[in-house]
Amino acid sequence: MMMGPPGRALNQEAQKPKDVRATLARFWYYVRRWWYALVLTIFMIIVATLCQVGSAPLIGQAVDCYFLPRADTCWYDPAALAAPQEQRLRGLLGLALLMSGLFATGALLQGLAFFTMNWAGQHALRRIREDTFHQMQRLSVGYYTRNEAGNIMSRVTSDTDTIQQALGFALLSVIGGILQLVVTGTLMLVTNLAYALISLSVVPLMVLATLYISNQARKAFRTTRQEMGNVNAGLQESIAGMREVQAFNREAESIAQFRATNAANRDANVRAATFTSALNPALEALGYVAIAIVVVVGGLSALRGEALLGGGVISLGMVFAFIQYVQRFNQPIQQIAILWTNLQSAVAGGERIFGLIDTEAEIVDDPAAHELPSIKGRVVFDAVHAEYISGQPVLRGVNFVAEAGQMVAIVGPTGAGKTTIINLIPRFYDVTAGSVSVDGHDVRSITAASLRRQIGIVLQDSFLFADTVMNNIRYGRLEASDEEVIAAARLVAAHEFIERLANGYQTVLGERGSGLSQGQRQLIAIARAALADPRILILDEATSSVDTRTERVIQRAFDQLLQGRTSFVIAHRLSTIRNADVVLVVQDGQIVERGTHDELLALHGAYHALYMSQFAQEKA
Ligand SMILES: Nc1ncnc2c1ncn2[C@@H]1O[C@H](COP(=O)(O)OP(=O)(O)O)[C@@H](O)[C@H]1O
Ligand SMILES: [Mg+2]
Repeated sequence: MMMGPPGRALNQEAQKPKDVRATLARFWYYVRRWWYALVLTIFMIIVATLCQVGSAPLIGQAVDCYFLPRADTCWYDPAALAAPQEQRLRGLLGLALLMSGLFATGALLQGLAFFTMNWAGQHALRRIREDTFHQMQRLSVGYYTRNEAGNIMSRVTSDTDTIQQALGFALLSVIGGILQLVVTGTLMLVTNLAYALISLSVVPLMVLATLYISNQARKAFRTTRQEMGNVNAGLQESIAGMREVQAFNREAESIAQFRATNAANRDANVRAATFTSALNPALEALGYVAIAIVVVVGGLSALRGEALLGGGVISLGMVFAFIQYVQRFNQPIQQIAILWTNLQSAVAGGERIFGLIDTEAEIVDDPAAHELPSIKGRVVFDAVHAEYISGQPVLRGVNFVAEAGQMVAIVGPTGAGKTTIINLIPRFYDVTAGSVSVDGHDVRSITAASLRRQIGIVLQDSFLFADTVMNNIRYGRLEASDEEVIAAARLVAAHEFIERLANGYQTVLGERGSGLSQGQRQLIAIARAALADPRILILDEATSSVDTRTERVIQRAFDQLLQGRTSFVIAHRLSTIRNADVVLVVQDGQIVERGTHDELLALHGAYHALYMSQFAQEKA
């Protein structure tokens, strides 16, 4: 069954169990192509961190060597202890310069690392967008009927924006932060084990707070991503359907609906923000508790000249150094915690993007598929069954043969399955049973590209791109010259009106071809099909939505176009059907009658009834 369970892809995927590690691995897969930038970044971060952390013990040394000299704890400049004041002052100045130099180097390297990391992140991001777009081209027509355009777009735009943070400086700060933790922690432990352990006593609390809050935040972020998708979907739909909205005076409902989705989006974001903003003050407060402990415990024992818990002696310089250490230790914890929540948002976005990238296309070429050679155009439906929704058959045993060059008209009431029949020829969907074959090749045994190349399709409402008329026609065959494009337009009688456009063939059309009448759009679409010069041509109600005069013009275009090709025409127009070599009457997913127009009329059956209700008034 290939039409797939409905709504599988986007909506159910959102309920699939999430694997954060797998998502992070996917980020890594994209980032690792720029490993050299990463190596450079990490190197700069290491040096920058060492520069910054290195200043902490130096502050302690300034106190212990120059301000309140102590022989037992001064190691930076022991000679200064007994030296004259002038020399000590010079020493102090040198120390100040060294610290400034370290600070400046650290800041510079941090800036550079930020740049290289973002550079790599942007490259990875572009790759992800490309892969997403590539996947969108691969997904079958069915996917797009089940999923909203806006929701899909939201993945390429806003979801990728959230992961930008993860690929950019989040990763960077986490690396730098962990390094800072390790270096600072080691320095503390080495300097005075007991003092270090007392100073770090609040750290487990910080970690617990972070884990709890960020866990809540991830759930909230996941909702924000879904709601953002809904906002985009609503937006896209109301833009595309603006004419209907205004024609039916449904602006108020439209606004109310948008307000509701938008409010849901706001609520989700507020909830996520509640968690992320609670984190910072909580950690900040715990950080001050740590400093208070350092000052009180260390200060008391320094003033009394006592060793702490059997450890080494605490000097006043050491207290200053430890204040620095604790700040330098808590800062990355705070930073990592905040970025951790950002990362939650990125993971939520990544899950949606990779979910799209991983969606299996329903129509894929068989590994053994071969190229369809140039065909004559014989199409055979053999006991074809098809369904969009599992268990709800739409076609129930359709059999027919269209000989090469024949014109086949398909008629029947709305919803009978006419469009479904023609959708199977270019393999937009697969059959559930039976087979569709072209010149003896089952469409599932050949590559979709080689099949579709030889089929031309004109639908009721053809899609034109926001590009020139020339390029819109050329879409049928990209390598066609300007002359060939114009020849195709002449063939289908579109040349005259195109010449009258402001810039002729170079006129740029609006989105979806706005700026042209529907009939003109159809003519361009027909010229496009003519340029492609396909062996099989499919016209699905191609003239249903134009006025009779335009229809007559288009009809003449078709007469030209159909010459020597196998054609399938779904039409309500009697003249079209009367010319057909064979008319198939479809009802409820089955062919109930077949034959020429005259034969079918003589039957006095379904076709006759349809004819009387639909075409009779046309005869006049
Ligand atoms: N994408 C789809 N998903 C689910 N059902 C569909 C889809 N397209 C068509 N159908 C159903 O299949 C039946 C036949 O549709 P269709 O072939 O478009 O009819 P016709 O072209 O004869 O008007 C209808 O009942 C319709 O509701
Ligand atoms: Mg139809």
